[in-house]
Amino acid sequence: MHEIASVPVKITEIRDETPTIKTFEFDGCFSSKAGQFCMVWIPGVDEVPMGFSSPSSITVQKVGEATEALFSLNVGDTIGIKGPLGNGYTPEGRVLVIAGGVGAAPLRPLALEGLADTFILGARTADEIVYKDELGSLTDLRISTDDGSYGHHGFVTDLLAGAGRGGSGVDPEDYDTICVCGPEIMMKNVLRILNEKDLSDRAQFSLVRYMKCGVGICGSCCLDDAGLRVCRDGPVFSGTDLLKSFEFGNYSRDATGRRVSGGGH
Ligand code: FES
Repeated sequence: MHEIASVPVKITEIRDETPTIKTFEFDGCFSSKAGQFCMVWIPGVDEVPMGFSSPSSITVQKVGEATEALFSLNVGDTIGIKGPLGNGYTPEGRVLVIAGGVGAAPLRPLALEGLADTFILGARTADEIVYKDELGSLTDLRISTDDGSYGHHGFVTDLLAGAGRGGSGVDPEDYDTICVCGPEIMMKNVLRILNEKDLSDRAQFSLVRYMKCGVGICGSCCLDDAGLRVCRDGPVFSGTDLLKSFEFGNYSRDATGRRVSGGGH
């Protein structure tokens, strides 16, 4: 197997997207497409998978030791990028994007490339909405917040349930490709709704799993029951493939390989 080397890059800009999410721009440009990811090496700490939020950036939520270390870095510091890895989205025709929280990061390139017709973006509160102004200028943006502090009061799935509800709903049948990324329970609910409408074959979901090697060797990222490695066969999977997996939305594995409830991490 061709081994991809980690490339050292310098951080050129750090943007606060929300109180817990930052975008790190770097001085290397990778020929990534939407949904592909990289292994980010944080000197002295760890190597962790992150979706590209553009060919020269990652957008990161502070959730653990590695991301905390990343948040302590400054402009001019060096990190290592190994990638692009994985398959990415394959948008065709009219494209509906559905994102929850920092799940908007790997979907942002679709908007930057003018490929996202409608973008449904969910967040817990108004403070946690990422890329609002940018996505609003590039796409037909619909927003929901769990607490109702901005946009539709409720979940992104409400906006799929019927066009015209509160003026912000869409009819997924109007789209040829539906690209999704967010908390796995949200993605599972999106898949359930799309499957009820017989549209699961139009949907593509990006999964997050604990990864060690990132290139298909170690087995730490597998959806065992579907025989799929998230790093090598994904991270983007069709709705039809995920319908075969009980693991999707129910459990994943931690760094020791132990089963933990809830998909992703
Ligand atoms: S991370 Fe090693 S097989 Fe996927």
